[in-house]
Amino acid sequence: MRVSRVLMAAGLAVLVSVGSVAVLSAQAKTDEDYDKLMKAVGAANGAMRKAPDAAATGAEAAKLVALFKDAQQFWTARSNKEAADWAAAAGTHAAEIEKAAKAGNAEGIAAHQKELGGTCMTCHTKYREKTEAGFVIKKG
Ligand code: HEC
Repeated sequence: MRVSRVLMAAGLAVLVSVGSVAVLSAQAKTDEDYDKLMKAVGAANGAMRKAPDAAATGAEAAKLVALFKDAQQFWTARSNKEAADWAAAAGTHAAEIEKAAKAGNAEGIAAHQKELGGTCMTCHTKYREKTEAGFVIKKG
């Protein structure tokens, strides 16, 4: 019993240290976290658009699904339902892109990429502000 508890603690410690390295699984809490999250979204989105094949498209879309889940939780924690809903919608389109990629459905990929791009724009128009120091969250 005692041994298994020690093992569990050791296992947890490993999980925690792995989690802090894996950007995708870390929950964004501060404005700085969110900035990193959006940079990762921008990178995955860019890679998805330039993906050489459907498999690569699907892999980048899967990253976006995880990132937008994080974004949704970030906005929910800040009691901003509108932004949380837009993050959720972005995640849904990313999931549809992943599905279409698996099915080799180029039209489905294109249609949901367009919808996804619209969602980025909608949220940026209301909540993103450009300052001399870079992009920041605009207070509603
Ligand atoms: C729910 C709202 C929301 C959605 C949806 C959203 N963003 Fe953002 N994004 C923001 C906010 C707010 C900022 C400014 C905060 C910051 O960058 O620190 C931002 C900043 C960015 C930045 C600038 C990061 C930097 O500082 O260099 C990039 C790139 C970006 N978003 C890409 C995207 C892309 C691509 C999508 C869609 C695939 C997307 N975002 C969807 C809210 C959103």
